[in-house]
Amino acid sequence: MDLASKLQLIDLRSTFLTGHPQRAAALRQFHRPVLPTATTSLKTAPFCSLSPKTSAKLHAVAVETAETEVKEEIESLFSSNSESEVDYKRFNKQSGSGASSVSSGIKLENISKSYKNVTVLKDVSWEVKKGEKVGLVGVNGAGKTTQLRIISGLEEPDSGNVIKAKPNMKISFLNQEFEVLGSRTVKEEFMSAFTEEMQVAERLEKVQKAIEKSVDDLELMGRLLDEFDLLQRRAQAVDLDEVDAKINKLIPELGFQPEDSDRLVASFSGGWQMRMCLGKILLQDPDLLLLDEPTNHLDLDTIEWLEGYLQKQDVPMVIISHDRAFLDQLCTKIVETDMGVSRTFMGNYSDYIISKAEWVETQLAAWEKQQKEIEQTKGLINRLSAGANSGRASTAEKKLEKLQDEEQIDKPFIRKQMKIRFPERGRSGRSVVTIKNLEFSHGDQMLFRNANLMIERGEKIAIIGPNGCGKSTLLKLIMGLHKPDRGEVLLGEHNVLPNYFEQNQAEALDLEKTVLETVAEVAEDWRLDDIKGLLGRCNFKANMLDRKVSFLSGGEKVMPC
Ligand SMILES: Nc1ncnc2c1ncn2[C@@H]1O[C@H](COP(=O)(O)OP(=O)(O)OP(=O)(O)O)[C@@H](O)[C@H]1O
Ligand SMILES: [Mg+2]
Repeated sequence: MDLASKLQLIDLRSTFLTGHPQRAAALRQFHRPVLPTATTSLKTAPFCSLSPKTSAKLHAVAVETAETEVKEEIESLFSSNSESEVDYKRFNKQSGSGASSVSSGIKLENISKSYKNVTVLKDVSWEVKKGEKVGLVGVNGAGKTTQLRIISGLEEPDSGNVIKAKPNMKISFLNQEFEVLGSRTVKEEFMSAFTEEMQVAERLEKVQKAIEKSVDDLELMGRLLDEFDLLQRRAQAVDLDEVDAKINKLIPELGFQPEDSDRLVASFSGGWQMRMCLGKILLQDPDLLLLDEPTNHLDLDTIEWLEGYLQKQDVPMVIISHDRAFLDQLCTKIVETDMGVSRTFMGNYSDYIISKAEWVETQLAAWEKQQKEIEQTKGLINRLSAGANSGRASTAEKKLEKLQDEEQIDKPFIRKQMKIRFPERGRSGRSVVTIKNLEFSHGDQMLFRNANLMIERGEKIAIIGPNGCGKSTLLKLIMGLHKPDRGEVLLGEHNVLPNYFEQNQAEALDLEKTVLETVAEVAEDWRLDDIKGLLGRCNFKANMLDRKVSFLSGGEKVMPC
């Protein structure tokens, strides 16, 4: 195609270039200027005070350098051959090449994983398919997060396979560290999910500017128009025109008001930042969604919203949560990991509890029956092995071998409840805490005005409320860590010893210390054996006591606190 017809074909005000006026503005804010222009580098060259001759020479050098920079800048606008090839392959979407035995989602087959001398996963096999929401359950340290890390490629299994429905599967991982940038606006934050699209848009804008400036160099203009052509095809392939519409559709779905688009991310609470993160993930159209304890620290309203929102999503997902109601609302299947082995139960969490109890009962009955059979066979061998029946005895011996080896039924492991005993303090007085006309503010945020509360001996009180309403502050006021602005917070006079387990207590631990050192430090007058006993009751096995706190799972970190 000749240059003139190309110029006629390409509308420089195409929506791929300028897009929606709002999108163009957001794009400009999002992409900071990249290279200085030739004029700026000339202006800043310090040759003003030199002799005219030197100055002229330097001027020539500076102009040359600036020209080289401009040329380099223009050359950088062109796609390299390899890049075009990669892009060509990527944009001409592959149709499930690469053999795999799953048609959707992902399958784990006989995965094992150990850390130093500790085996975390022995034999883990399960799958998540289209339309399924799998709840991954198990005690603290059972290896749930490790499985998600293996699926997302952050960690390698020692053996076993992770089989994906397609090789370039998009797997998104939402954990508790919400990856948002406080200094962006909400709209910019959502746009950051479209890395590829934004790059194409940015390059289109640059090439457009370069075309406008290249009217004197027809050869360059021709090359730029070819590049423009290529970028337009890419823009089409990545649906660049849809970016704005997708974001505008998502903003109200996530519960944001239209005017929130221009508000800074930092001005939103943790719960709202989680919504942004989830929104960004969903905008990327993942093939599999992994969620690691997404409800921790969320208030009840946000948890409810999250339940409803995830329920509407079709993408297969795996959810780790210790929140039974959350799992009940969402899951179609539960995978339990216990002692390094996984077991799959169809249904939600309540169904799992019932099926698990039935499984334990059946398994225990089968185990008991087999134990009886083993004892009887042993008795038979003893009776037969003497005298003329030794032939029959050897048949019985073979049977015994089989029973104790390949046909052996494992006794179901019934985990003991963790026992926590608080030291005897004697009975306190009837009144434990009295709060009278409490007033308290953080800066200009009033948290309590005329608040009154009586806590009496034996009461167990739940303090509920939205994120940021002052629940932790109330506990700190009771502990005397904050002083009321007005009113009183009084502890009962008789035998009241307050103690406090902080929200982020585990974050205060020294990650370099071992589990044993961490507890021994605060239990100075305890015997070592007693400390080990206490940790054992918190489900720490003997071989974990020398493990550094930094390697503990989220839940394990809380135990030594
Ligand atoms: N890099 C590592 N080095 C040593 N041990 C590790 C490492 N990563 C994890 N572990 C151990 O592996 C076990 C499984 O950890 P993982 O984080 O998968 O548990 P989890 O089931 O997610 O627990 P939680 O419910 O507490 O989050 C834990 O005992 C943990 O201490
Ligand atoms: Mg975990």
